Amino acid sequence: MGLTGLFLISFLVVHASINACIWFNDGGETFTFYAHFMGTNTIVHFIEAGLFAGLILHIVDGLLLWKQNRDARPVQYAYNNPGKNSTWYSRSMAVLGTLILLFLVIHLYDFWAPNRVEYVTTGEEKDLFQMMQERFESLPIVLLYCAGCFSLFWHLLHGFKSAFQSLGLNHSKYNKAVEVAGIAFSIIVPAVFALMPISMYFHLVH
Ligand code: HEM
Repeated sequence: MGLTGLFLISFLVVHASINACIWFNDGGETFTFYAHFMGTNTIVHFIEAGLFAGLILHIVDGLLLWKQNRDARPVQYAYNNPGKNSTWYSRSMAVLGTLILLFLVIHLYDFWAPNRVEYVTTGEEKDLFQMMQERFESLPIVLLYCAGCFSLFWHLLHGFKSAFQSLGLNHSKYNKAVEVAGIAFSIIVPAVFALMPISMYFHLVH
């Protein structure tokens, strides 16, 4: 979980950084330049295959862990104070992960799938900047993307520091720093993502 999680976290950084280029307000020129490189470079295509493999591994691993936890205690404790022993979001990683997966299916159907179909059939790419502008004209879609980012925030809030712990990268000296970095990351990255549909909806991007 930790390894695939950190890999997916690194993808989020790249994805958010490239998408943030929409805020140059240059008609999507800088964004399209980098998106085009990512969409057409052969090495990136291999990394993309690794990304989807990593995503599937992360989901399968998560489901196995969830089952293991459930089977480890088929009979519940007579007295269990979950609110005191753990956070609700750490106990809800499977639900949060499923919400993110639902968001991802819609998200890939919105942008990635049509762009890849276009590329394979015509050798040309779609105008992703224009597609985003059109997609984010719709308030329900903007709200759905914000909900996806909100689920991602909670999922990362537990996942970021857990990844370090799972990999044995926890040391009393650095635990606090990892926790603070995790909180900052969990807020900043989903917020940056959520601001994309929001700023496009309000026509602040052109
Ligand atoms: C909310 C703002 C977001 C916007 C505007 C956005 C936009 C895009 C666009 C335009 C693409 C197509 C790229 C291409 O076809 O080359 C894409 C791909 C993708 N996005 Fe997002 N995205 C957002 C958030 C997210 C989030 C939060 C996640 C993950 C939880 C995510 C995961 C992905 C994945 C896995 C792909 C396919 C990767 C690939 O191109 O290989 N996106 N996104």
